Amino acid sequence: MTQSIVVFGANGKIGRIFCEEGARAGLPIRAVVRREDQRAFFASRNIEVVLGDLEGEFEQALEGCDRVVFTAGSGGQTGPDKTMLVDLYGAIRVIEASERAAIDHFVMVSAARADVPLSATPGMRHYMVAKKVADDRLVASSVAHTILRPGRLTDLPGSGKIRTRFSDGEGVEISRQNVAQCIAAAFESPAPGNRVVELFDGDQPISTLFAD
Ligand SMILES: NC(=O)c1ccc[n+]([C@@H]2O[C@H](COP(=O)([O-])OP(=O)(O)OC[C@H]3O[C@@H](n4cnc5c(N)ncnc54)[C@H](OP(=O)(O)O)[C@@H]3O)[C@@H](O)[C@H]2O)c1
Repeated sequence: MTQSIVVFGANGKIGRIFCEEGARAGLPIRAVVRREDQRAFFASRNIEVVLGDLEGEFEQALEGCDRVVFTAGSGGQTGPDKTMLVDLYGAIRVIEASERAAIDHFVMVSAARADVPLSATPGMRHYMVAKKVADDRLVASSVAHTILRPGRLTDLPGSGKIRTRFSDGEGVEISRQNVAQCIAAAFESPAPGNRVVELFDGDQPISTLFAD
């Protein structure tokens, strides 16, 4: 049976790429956006779109879906209050709603080094703590999960190749298109769930990332 994928953060940069490429590949996708005027991008591509706000109501968006992508974030233009409300509490609420909805597979877009928040620069530590606590809640949940931890995001075309190990002296960037393709790869895995992977641009074909 084909499983529907509900995408939180669908209107974001990674979200749009994932939805567009996924729909083109035939994946049944439901995009969650927070404003009416954001519907058009998805509707014009025959992608189902529903309204949902991570600071408010969204639970109905999961109805009838088996898989979840969380690639929402408050972004760099807002303050730490929004990081707490969206990146932390919004993510935790989606995880808890996913438990209630018996979701089969949850793919979280986290951030590289979220496991060691105090290694970040002082201005980024609260964001890394938000990511870590949300990730820890997902790991502790009853939902099978893949946690993707990308490095610094770029808008370059995806190379289709990544590296999964952080090491000093190597690049910490990754194209958003590569991340979007890693989300799709996670859902294609023959043994889905319960993995945590860091992601940087590299030499490993994305097609091999979850092949085992
Ligand atoms: N920037 C980096 O270098 C970096 C590195 C590692 C990981 N990440 C993480 O990667 C993820 C995706 O990145 P991106 O560049 O695609 O982000 P983005 O373009 O900023 O997209 C974030 C999305 O989250 C949505 N959102 C924010 N608040 C919301 C709310 N209250 N309810 C519902 N949706 C809400 C935004 O909605 P609107 O479209 O309505 O604004 C937007 O569509 C984020 O979680 C980010 O933290 C970023």
